[in-house]
Amino acid sequence: MPAEIIDGKAIAAELRAKIANESARIAGNTGRKPGLAVVLVGEDPASQVYVRNKHKAAIEAGFNSFETIFPADISEKSLISELNKLNDNSEVDGILVQLPLPAHISSDIVINTINPAKDVDGFHPLNSGKLFNGRRDGFLPCTPLGCLYLLKRTISKGLAGKNAVVIGRSNIVGKPMAALLLSEDCTVTITHSKTRNLAEITANADILVSATGKPEFVKKEWVKKGAVVIDVGINRVENKLKGDVDFKGACENASFITPVPGGVGPMTIACLMYNTLKAYCKINEIKLELEI
Ligand code: GUN
Repeated sequence: MPAEIIDGKAIAAELRAKIANESARIAGNTGRKPGLAVVLVGEDPASQVYVRNKHKAAIEAGFNSFETIFPADISEKSLISELNKLNDNSEVDGILVQLPLPAHISSDIVINTINPAKDVDGFHPLNSGKLFNGRRDGFLPCTPLGCLYLLKRTISKGLAGKNAVVIGRSNIVGKPMAALLLSEDCTVTITHSKTRNLAEITANADILVSATGKPEFVKKEWVKKGAVVIDVGINRVENKLKGDVDFKGACENASFITPVPGGVGPMTIACLMYNTLKAYCKINEIKLELEI
């Protein structure tokens, strides 16, 4: 039987509708909408698309969106001073700086500048430290959180005891994904570009998450029969979007698989909206009724 497609677009739309309802309910009581500031430095076309989509999603969720665009040659010092203004702005609950940044700006310094209470990307060391300590009271990075949401919806019997293999060790996806799967009691293997016998390792995976940025890198034979495959890759090839996984081939072995586009991508944005609402609730000492 060919794999069932995990419809990330539909699942994300459902989640965003729940967030919009919860946001309207809460803002009706407080008289102030949640506010998200998305910061873009420079004119990278892919980043411009991501930032535009985040802005649109924020408005649709009933939030205020503060889109802040700076020229590519802004100094690190000026950017930090601008971020401190957003930290101090009581209308802003969540701050996201779109990565990558121009080479003359340290992303570490920028991420460290964001108030951890407004760090809706979950990249600040305080939030990543909480995640690696198994705590859920910080902010969880949006893409891995979206992947986990899809996995929990797909694997009805639960994730505990599953062999999970993550391909990629970035701070944005690979490492936090592994930490989240571990906190769900999976047996987790993190692999990367220097891993030996990768195909042998992935062939043992009940859950396979790929975040390499290499189009169609994961072949049919690498996928265990019945595995759940989550493809985080968004690779532009000849003006088409391709995932990290050879989708057609993998469909023959997997039981469930995310498509590209329409899989993980929409979940990332939905989880950013969730984190913004969570930040707003924490700042206002309101209980968030929606748990993901
Ligand atoms: N660039 C690619 N993915 C992300 C993300 O999740 N957050 C930010 N801020 N930048 C990114």
